[in-house]
Formats: sequence, C-alpha cells, structure tokens
Amino acid sequence: MLKGKHIILGITGGIAAYKSAMLLRLLIKRGAEVQVVMTPAAKEFITPVTLSALSGKPVISQFFTANSGEWHSHVDLGLWADLMLVAPATASTLAKMATGVADNMLVTTYLSAKAPVMVAPSMDLDMFAHPTTARNLETLRRDGVEIIEPGSGELASHLIGKGRMAEPEEIVERVEAFLEARNAGIAGKSDSDMKGQRWLITAGPTFENIDPVRFIGNYSSGKTGFDLAAEIAERGGEVLLVAGPVTIPTPESPLVKRINVRSAVEMYEVCLKEFEMCDGAIMSAAVADYRPEKCAERKIKREGEEELTLHLVRNPDIAASLGRIKGDRFLVGFALESDHELENACSKMERKNLDCIVMNSLRDGKCFNVDTNSITIINRDLARKKYSAMDKRELARLIVENIIDEQKRKKKEN
Ligand code: C5P
Repeated sequence: MLKGKHIILGITGGIAAYKSAMLLRLLIKRGAEVQVVMTPAAKEFITPVTLSALSGKPVISQFFTANSGEWHSHVDLGLWADLMLVAPATASTLAKMATGVADNMLVTTYLSAKAPVMVAPSMDLDMFAHPTTARNLETLRRDGVEIIEPGSGELASHLIGKGRMAEPEEIVERVEAFLEARNAGIAGKSDSDMKGQRWLITAGPTFENIDPVRFIGNYSSGKTGFDLAAEIAERGGEVLLVAGPVTIPTPESPLVKRINVRSAVEMYEVCLKEFEMCDGAIMSAAVADYRPEKCAERKIKREGEEELTLHLVRNPDIAASLGRIKGDRFLVGFALESDHELENACSKMERKNLDCIVMNSLRDGKCFNVDTNSITIINRDLARKKYSAMDKRELARLIVENIIDEQKRKKKEN
C-alpha cells in the first residue's frame, strides 16, 4: 500500500520520539520513501544519526546546513510529499501548526505542504486535556488535518491518563487506511458538490422521560451526525440537523440549521414535517426503541417499594416512516449489529426502504463516544465498501462521497 509513497515524517521534542525510530522502520518496510524533518528540541530525545541510518537520507532540521550553507527548500519538500505525518506531535508544535508560527523547518514545511497531513499527538494528560490543546486540535481538524488520537495509559510522568502517542503499528495502519480512502476518490472534493440540495440529518441519542428528573437514554455523542452535517455544508449543501440532547458544538456554517429535540416522538414529528422539503435524509441518531408509557407527573418515590416496574411502549421508527414516503429522495440509515452483521444490515436496508446503510463495527464492544470507527457502506445493489478504523470526520467524508456517487448513478439510470 505504501510502495513508492513519499512521506515526510515530522518528529518533535517529546518522550515518544524514541518510538519514531520504530515507526520509520515500519513505513520503510511497507515500501515508503521517508524524509525525516525534526524540530531542534526533538534532537534532545533521539539522534539524527539513528534516523538518517534508518531512512537512508540525511535528516533535515535547520533551514541551512551549518558548514556548507546549503539551503533546504521547505517548498520543494512540501511538493515532493504524498503525506506529511507528525509523530510525536507535541502541544507546542500543534499550537504552532494551528496558528502558523513558522519558526522551524517542520512548521514551515507544514505550511508549504500540498499533501494531506496527519498528526499523532503526544503529551502529558493535563496538557492534552487543556482547552488550549483541544482548541488547537479542533482548528487543525477543521483545516483538514487528520488526528490520530493518543491512547490512555501510564505516561512518562507516571501519571495515568490520555496523552500517550498511538503505537507505531496503529499509526501505520491509520496511514494506510487514510491513503486508501483518498485514493478512493475523496481528493476530488468540491465546495459545490451538494449545492442546491437540502439534507435532513438526525443525530445523538433520545431521552425518554420517566418522571420530571429521570429518563432512559444512551451514550450516543452525536459526533457522526454532526460531522456529516459539516461535510455536506462544506460541499455547499444546506442541512437541517435534528439533534437529540448532546453537548458537542454545532458545525460553524450558515448552511447548518439545528433543531433540538429530546424524545423519539419529538424527533419523529420534526422529521416528518421537514422531510418533504429535503433531497435526502441521513438517520444517524440512536433513537430509543421504547419509551415509558406515561411520564409520572411527580418524582417517583421509592419509600415502601421493593421493586418498580416500568411499562414501556414502542417508539415510532423514524427511518422506516420516511422510507414509506420517500419517493425519489435519498435515504441513509445506520446499523450496529452484534451478530450476523451483514445479513441483518441488508435486511434492515430492505425493511426500512433505505438507499444505503452504514454498518458500524463494534470496537472492543464500543462505537459510541469514541473518535474513530470502522464502517462498511452497503448500497441498494448490495455493493459494499469497507473502511478500517479512522477518524469519524474522515468517515463522514466517505459516506457523503458515496451518496454523491449513488445520486449520480441513480440519475444516469433514470
Ligand atoms: O432498527 P435499528 O434501530 O437497528 O435501525 C437503525 C437505523 O434506524 C438508524 O439509522 C436509526 O437512526 C434509525 N432509527 C430511527 N427510528 C427508530 C429507530 C431507529 O430512525 N425508532
């Protein structure tokens, strides 16, 4: 997969720089040609000699070579690369990249790079959790940089938390998946792909009230739906984002309008009213299947009661309801299956009259509240596209790209 690919490996001054040697070896083993660019601070953690021996190229860290005065062109380097990967990426380098502080060769190269950029952050847990770092990462994400999330575990400070650079094997897997996805045609994105279209997107969980202070809910963060809204808006489409109770911010675009709902019934009512005015809908919400038959008017007391029985009734199936009235609108659903994944997803697509279904795979039993996901997109003709773990924002791009392709195909057929 990486055969012949030109990769700039940016190394910054963090403890995890020792893992960069292994990462470099893995990239070379997979056939990549790698040019290492280090920040001055990185040399305190790993020597350029090790890296130049492994890469077979002199390491670049200054604008000039001291004794010969040779100038290193960050512009040429930026054009040469198929990918720039910064691993480890310290809080300081991320901040410089987010704000354009080009005071070293690595950040200068980043600003000149025409190729996609990936970063693998590495820092102490408090630095990673700091709002400044979160803000910088969000800026980079919006600028199109792919973030390889750090893992949790024991850090160099001996504290335990999130901030540990992803392992080299995982980084290489992510690089391969990312380049594979781009080869699949994402590079051809335009800001008018969806111009003139209006899309309905459901996102997040629903909360079903038991009494004035309690509810039945689930762990859905709404991230997938919000990323899909951002992606459609970036391509010029209007989005009506019908969001259950979530805490994440609405994508910053005048094309995205958000309507907040709480329960499945509220979500159903908004969707049924709005769908007619839309070109399509993406049902990414984790809608509660059942709700308490009655919401108690007062807080339910436990005094004297050993047990409490809640009587639940079925919620409306929003996707299936839209499927019944969709006409030539495009309808996308999601499936999260624990067994017979493919069979169940395909029969769900049929039952709900969807044009396409996105099958989520559980990772260590998880899919909600994680930043990466593995998906398979299945179209009505049962053609399948499988993508391994990658950032949800990148997955949103793939899903929207598939919708555009399918819309074109449908148009040709008619
Ligand atoms: O039937 P199941 O819940 O597995 O189907 C998942 C798909 O159907 C998702 O796209 C989800 O958003 C949608 N759905 C819905 N209304 C429901 C239940 C699921 O729109 N009540």
